[in-house]
Formats: sequence, C-alpha cells, structure tokens
Amino acid sequence: MGMGGLRILGIETSCDETAAAVVHRREDGTGEILSDVVLSQLDLHAAFGGVVPELAARSHVSVLDRLVSEALADSGVALGDIDAIAVTSGPGLIGGLMVGLMTAKAIAMAMALPFLGVNHLEGHALTARLTDNVAFPYLLLLVSGGHTQIVLVNGVGDYERWGTTIDDALGEAFDKTAKLLGLGYPGGPAVEQAALSGVPRRFRLPVPMRRDPRLDFSFSGLKTAVRQMAEAEAPLSDQTIADLCLAFQLSVTASLDDRIAMALERFSQRFGTGSRPALVVAGGVAANKAIRTTLEARAGKAGFRFIAPPLNLCTDNAAMIAWAGAERMAAGLPFDGLDLAPRSRWPLDEAATALIGHGKRGAKA
Ligand code: KG4
Ligand code: ZN
Repeated sequence: MGMGGLRILGIETSCDETAAAVVHRREDGTGEILSDVVLSQLDLHAAFGGVVPELAARSHVSVLDRLVSEALADSGVALGDIDAIAVTSGPGLIGGLMVGLMTAKAIAMAMALPFLGVNHLEGHALTARLTDNVAFPYLLLLVSGGHTQIVLVNGVGDYERWGTTIDDALGEAFDKTAKLLGLGYPGGPAVEQAALSGVPRRFRLPVPMRRDPRLDFSFSGLKTAVRQMAEAEAPLSDQTIADLCLAFQLSVTASLDDRIAMALERFSQRFGTGSRPALVVAGGVAANKAIRTTLEARAGKAGFRFIAPPLNLCTDNAAMIAWAGAERMAAGLPFDGLDLAPRSRWPLDEAATALIGHGKRGAKA
C-alpha cells in the first residue's frame, strides 16, 4: 500500500445498520475499500414490522465500539495513520445518529484528527465514484426504505434534487404492501418473490404520476388500491397474493420508468449525451430485478450507461460515508467542529430547496 492519498474511518448509525469502514482515496481520485463491517438489526425489528428507534439506538451503543475496532483491524491501517473521521450526522433517527456522532467525536478528539459530519444521502450519491470512478455530472436514482429521489450529482457538495416522493418512500411502499398481504418484513424481497408466480393483468393498478412534469413520485395511493382489492378478495389465496404483488410491482416499475425517462431527457437537453453519461441507482430497492432490468433498458435507450453498485454498497454501509468524507476532504471543503449536532432532516441540496420552500422540518428528506 502506498502512502499517498487519504485514509478515512467512516461510521454509520442513522437507521438499522451499525457500520464502520476504512476507505482509501488515491491521489488520482480512485478509491479502494480497506475494510467494511456492517451489522444489520433486521432480526431485532422484524417482530415489529419496522424499525423501532429506541431499540435501534440501544443496539448501536452496544456494538459500535467493537465494529470500529474490527474495521480498523481488517483494514491493516493503524489509527495513527488515519487522516480523518467521517460520520453520518443526518438525515436519520436522532438517537442512532447521536451514538455515531459521540463515538466519532471521541476518537477525533483523542487522536487530534479532523472530523467530518456527512450527509447520509451524499454517501449514497457518491458511491458510484468509489466503485466505478464515474465522472460528474451524473444522474442518481435513490430508492430505499426512507428515500425516493432523483438527484443531479454535479460535483462534491453540489447536488440538485429533481424529484422526490410526495408521500411514502418506495421501500416503505413495498414493506406496507407486503404487510397488508400477510408477507414478512422486509417486504421488498417477499413481494418480488411472490410476483414471480403472479398472473399478469388479473388486477390492474394505476401508474402513479405518469407524465407529471414535476418528476416526483407517489406510492401511497397504490398501496391503498392494493388494500381495497385485497379486502374485496378476502380470504386471500396464495395465487391472489401473487397476482396482487405482480400488479403492484408492474405499476411501480412503470412509474419509475416514466419518471426516469423524463429525467434522462432533461439531463440530455442540458448536458448532451456525447460523453455517455451515467444513470446510477442506489438504495435497498435497487436489489429488485424487475426494477433493475427496466432502468437498464431505459438508460440504454436514452444513450446512458447504467451503473448499479454491488448490493452491499447500495444498502446502508460505512464505506460510502468514509468515501464521501474523503471526497469532501480532497475537494477542500471545510471540516466540522466537535459541537456538530445531528439532524433528523437534511436535504442534499439545502441552498436550492430553502429558496423554493421545500426540505423544511416536516417535509420528507
Ligand atoms: O437501503 P436500505 O437497505 O435501507 C434503508 O432504507 O435505509 O433499503 C431497505 C428497503 C426496504 O424497504 C426493503 O423492503 C427494500 O429496500 N428492498 C426491496 C428489495 N430488497 C430490499 N424492495 C423491492 N425489491 C427488493 N428485492
Ligand atoms: Zn440509506
């Protein structure tokens, strides 16, 4: 391992994964993951059908120190050779964020290291540069349990949110649909699995937001439509459940395709497609094969490369936080003080959204 570049320790505790990682950003801008430890709390929350914030925070407290030690040991980098500590400081569950922040601050203070509070969404947004060295600008579709956004990634710290959900996040819609059909948590994989044996066109659901010029998403109406059909069909046979899952997934896929087609067109009008720009997908829902296939075909048709980072880097992890810290540091952006507070809501394009009145408290981040 050469001595150049930056070695960053990253910590992530914003939701239901406790994670620590060490990432190396070389002077030429390429990256390598030296260690990446993630502990999912899935089993802890499964019985409740969703994440319980208090349980999540307590679990982060009990495992984070050990995970940080493991990440350092796996990386082969001594704490004394780390260049900075990066930690998710929002958006997310406040209790969990506080656990990560206090740990990161303690290490930074003890080792006199620079300290960076990273926006979790910026971690997702920049991952494609770690995995694929993607050049700016590019278009990001972030689809997870907490977020559904189309983001123009112009540069480090320079984002434009082109669209977001006006109600449920897409992963949340999968989870709620699964729950009302009696499938397990998390619902995404269960719905995808059931849809494989579904009969097409037995149920027809609307395609939310089709051709709406705002580029936003909406999924709660779809979930309600599934509930009404399920109630009318009760008691539900396995076949009916499968047919409803397929109808739901087809509507979701058609809606994503419609929104992304419009976003790619807008991108092309502004930047052209001469350099074969990238459409990047991130978030847990990116695991869905029907969604991936649809997006890949749409990107190809529009003259874009399609980039889906490996699944362990699409879902929540600390490598993306360490990497975002490295990118910020390399770009000369300022460090944070040890008085930095966690933020439950923190839109990526804060300056822009403040002007038009979005992203305030109460709005979805
Ligand atoms: O990014 P992620 O691991 O966690 C956060 O939301 O932060 O995403 C989890 C979400 C859950 O809502 C889960 O149901 C959904 O991603 N998901 C899927 C699939 N696998 C996971 N949704 C649809 N199809 C899948 N195969
Ligand atoms: Zn996430």
